[in-house]
Amino acid sequence: MGALKKILIVGGSGFVGTHLAGLLSRKHSITSTFRGEFTAIPGVEYVYFNGIHDKDRCSSLVQKHQPDVVIFSAGSNDPAKAEKDPSQSQLVHLTGANQMLTAAEYLKAKYIYLSSDWVFSGIDGNFGESDTAIPSYALGKTKLGAENYIRNRSVNHIIIRCAPLLGRGTLDHPSWLDHLRDAAAFHKPISLSDRSIRNPVHVRELATLIDRVIEGDVRNKTLHLGGLTRISEYQLAVEIFETFGFDRKDLTMTKSGQENSNQDFSLNYSRTLKLLKTEPLLLKQSLDLLK
Ligand SMILES: NC(=O)c1ccc[n+]([C@@H]2O[C@H](COP(=O)([O-])OP(=O)(O)OC[C@H]3O[C@@H](n4cnc5c(N)ncnc54)[C@H](OP(=O)(O)O)[C@@H]3O)[C@@H](O)[C@H]2O)c1
Repeated sequence: MGALKKILIVGGSGFVGTHLAGLLSRKHSITSTFRGEFTAIPGVEYVYFNGIHDKDRCSSLVQKHQPDVVIFSAGSNDPAKAEKDPSQSQLVHLTGANQMLTAAEYLKAKYIYLSSDWVFSGIDGNFGESDTAIPSYALGKTKLGAENYIRNRSVNHIIIRCAPLLGRGTLDHPSWLDHLRDAAAFHKPISLSDRSIRNPVHVRELATLIDRVIEGDVRNKTLHLGGLTRISEYQLAVEIFETFGFDRKDLTMTKSGQENSNQDFSLNYSRTLKLLKTEPLLLKQSLDLLK
């Protein structure tokens, strides 16, 4: 087992941050930031932080906690939010991430940035790490801007592009799956596309990957993390409805997108598998873990 590290999770109160803190706190000392509500994990220190827009406040946060590793998991992965308010999205995913990198570099801390499959065009699918990223949407453009900055500037970073993460959130930070389950439980009409394809992966696998990255001191790589199953958002909802026993009459399929063309954002993660050294989970196995 590697040495204990001090890890700062920026956005540690969120759905992803909470899962990361839960797993990583078994081996390491974790400080998580929050702005509003959070669900405490025993042994994790929580600090209020609302200064992502301010270089000096980013710097004093990092100076105060002296982390060996900074994980940037702030901001929402909801593309609709980013389209609606691109400047707010940029403030967190780009400006905030860059300022936090500057602060981390001062201490020579490892910087782990959570990006997403939205950096790709959705034209071909099965995107590898060396494929050119041409984002179509505001969220992807912002994420890619941050990735480029980090790659050009940092000598100790890891960028992880994640497919949609399967997991339960907390009451204060529900996951997208929680939102879907709530809508299903209250018989709200749900309309999803059968042309938008991704390869979702259990959030536990992200925590394991970050654990391996820290343990092996892996540096200066862009890693993809997705699941074994490429599936449309409609079909995924069907699987989720079946897993949890919801009535499918409230679920309808849309054919949004260009005529006869799919939008496939799936990630090829074969390089990451070598690092993970674990068997990937089937979609059904991941969903069963959530029951
Ligand atoms: N969820 C997924 O499936 C998925 C997939 C790929 C990548 N990611 C990436 O993972 C990261 C976290 O996603 P998530 O699903 O965990 O989102 P989330 O549940 O909404 O959590 C977001 C976290 O960021 C914090 N935050 C938001 N705006 C902030 C600001 N201006 N200043 C400081 N903190 C701020 C939130 O704190 P408060 O709530 O207290 O404001 C919260 O701790 C995002 O960068 C996302 O793009 C997520």
